Amino acid sequence: MSAKIIDGKQIAAEIREELKAEVAALKEKGIVPGLGVILVGEDPASKSYVSAKEKACKNIGIFSDDNRLPAETTQDELLAVVERMNQDPKINGILVQLPLPKHIDEAAILLAINPDKDVDGFHPMNVGKMMVGEEAFLPCTPHGVVQMLARSGAETSGAHVVVVGRSNIVGKPVANMLLQKKDGANATVTLCHTGTKDLGYHTRQADIIIAASGWPNTVTADMVKEGAVVIDVGVNRVEDPSRERGYRLVGDVDFDAIKEKASMITPVPGGVGPMTITMLLFNTVDSAKKAGGLV
Ligand code: GUN
Repeated sequence: MSAKIIDGKQIAAEIREELKAEVAALKEKGIVPGLGVILVGEDPASKSYVSAKEKACKNIGIFSDDNRLPAETTQDELLAVVERMNQDPKINGILVQLPLPKHIDEAAILLAINPDKDVDGFHPMNVGKMMVGEEAFLPCTPHGVVQMLARSGAETSGAHVVVVGRSNIVGKPVANMLLQKKDGANATVTLCHTGTKDLGYHTRQADIIIAASGWPNTVTADMVKEGAVVIDVGVNRVEDPSRERGYRLVGDVDFDAIKEKASMITPVPGGVGPMTITMLLFNTVDSAKKAGGLV
């Protein structure tokens, strides 16, 4: 069997079209959704993410307030920018690009963001609400994964989902979202990590594998059940002298071998990646609707 490729670009484009129409309707009511973006330092991957976010905002009509701060920015200076955005009624969402330079306490910055503007879903208030199944801003990458499963017809209810990786940004939240007693969730979830003794023992039982380990080839074909759905969250650079830039992007799973065994699989690039920014736009529009008393 050759797996159906889940096209993240296509699903993301569909959702962005829906959002574009919503933004146009909000503008008729005098509401312009606004996103405040803060990047500290010069990390090349972070710079390219942030530029992509800013471009995506403009494409669907969201106003973006872009702040590039030098790597030496102090914690107090950063807190002051966050506070200015907390107070600014034109800003519905605040995004502080992670990771932050080592001298800044990331947890303190996330805690300073007004939870009602926390469109990344990283504030402990939103994390806690998500965990108990209350309405909350959901973190963008895991929310994108859940949307991809739903929109590609993968049944999660009663399915055994095995998540590989326990990061706060992907593994822990996606596990939590999928175990909720809700439509598009209701799964039995196993969360594996670097302390897991026999990863393959677990992944072979999975109807759905979500790989978010941050390492190429963490999941190989022998670790996948025939017909499983495989979602690859990884984005890893591997050296490739045949490419002009000297590297290529691969995920966390052995795509070429697994696609012969899985029923559906996401590619890298073009899978989960385009969904992350899309769900950020979704949360920003949602926040603007909430601020305008429309939901
Ligand atoms: N760094 C890597 N992923 C993310 C994300 O989703 N949001 C933010 N703010 N930083 C990140």
